[in-house]
Amino acid sequence: QQVDWQPDETGKGQYDHFMLKEIHTQPTSLQKTIEGRIDADEHVTDLDVDLDLTDIDTVHLVGCGTSYHAALFGSSILNRCDVSARAIRASEYDVNTGTPPENTLFVAVTQSGETADTLQALRQASDVGASTLAVTNVVQSTAAREADEPLYIRAGPEIGVAATKTFSSQAVMLTMLSQHIARVNETATRVNNVGQLLSDLRALPSAVDRILQSSDAAGLAQEHLDKNAYFFIGRGLGCSVAKEGALKFKEITYEHAEGFASGELKHGPLALVTERTPVFAVCADDCDKTVTNAKEAQTRGAPIVAVSPPSHKIVDTADAHLSVPDMHPVCSNLLANVQLQLLSYYCATELDRAIDKPRNLAKSVTVE
Ligand code: G6P
Repeated sequence: QQVDWQPDETGKGQYDHFMLKEIHTQPTSLQKTIEGRIDADEHVTDLDVDLDLTDIDTVHLVGCGTSYHAALFGSSILNRCDVSARAIRASEYDVNTGTPPENTLFVAVTQSGETADTLQALRQASDVGASTLAVTNVVQSTAAREADEPLYIRAGPEIGVAATKTFSSQAVMLTMLSQHIARVNETATRVNNVGQLLSDLRALPSAVDRILQSSDAAGLAQEHLDKNAYFFIGRGLGCSVAKEGALKFKEITYEHAEGFASGELKHGPLALVTERTPVFAVCADDCDKTVTNAKEAQTRGAPIVAVSPPSHKIVDTADAHLSVPDMHPVCSNLLANVQLQLLSYYCATELDRAIDKPRNLAKSVTVE
């Protein structure tokens, strides 16, 4: 498998920042991730993995930062396919996992393929005989070479320190992997309507394009500057998106942001909620419980921004709305993430932050 990175892919082009360029190239990068891997007619995925993925008892998806959030997204989908799966932070793998059980598939999720904690966990799993895959963007990276098989996300070079397009491509890659594992293991699948999932995945690049053309995130950013803290809530797949939304926000705005499961709001964070703590509620799925949780915050004065399809009932409650199309929940959630990427970007530009190189952060962390 080869990934060609053209020289013109490494410039900023017409954009003020690499991050904005990378957000805007997602229709193309996602197209490349999906290309040749989904056969819409037969509703199967063909990942060309030369590894026996039958009789897997459990899947460990391991990464750091944004890649960990993609792992979380992937683990939710695998669980919905009745495949046992855990997302684990790479830095915690040795202390929190013990010896991986027999028939474990270890999936290193790493854009660069060079993150020290992720490589350390990969080696630990390999040493005890787990099958290993590396979901990575960089051809011949250390993770790609050391895993049994690489699965390239083909997102093209990502220069901005805050990962954007690679999260979307990792999440799509893991979605395709989950369908592949479910199919070869013939597990019952609770992912509703696999046919719709696969055809919506094919439609995802153009749906991202429409969001990029029509997003209200820039205007909304203006209204939400200079607050005390920013909370992002969601359930299931939406929880991974909420966590990723908060990470992006804090990385580039330097404002305090937290992302968590909607239901956790009342178990602590509610103590911090005031009219100066906007709550972004990701409701791209059937998630009526999140509506209740958002109302709890609203009662304490917090402005609620719904990130949801226009028909979702949270829109009646919310003070503002970032719209996503009503597609398969996997796709609607990834589109919600694109809206949050734009929100973070526009807040950070208003605050005049160093968007592509946030203080104290590095693109690739090669120390443990
Ligand atoms: C650093 C970067 C993050 C990235 C993380 C994992 O912290 O700033 O954007 O998500 O490393 O990197 P990886 O290359 O393993 O995905």
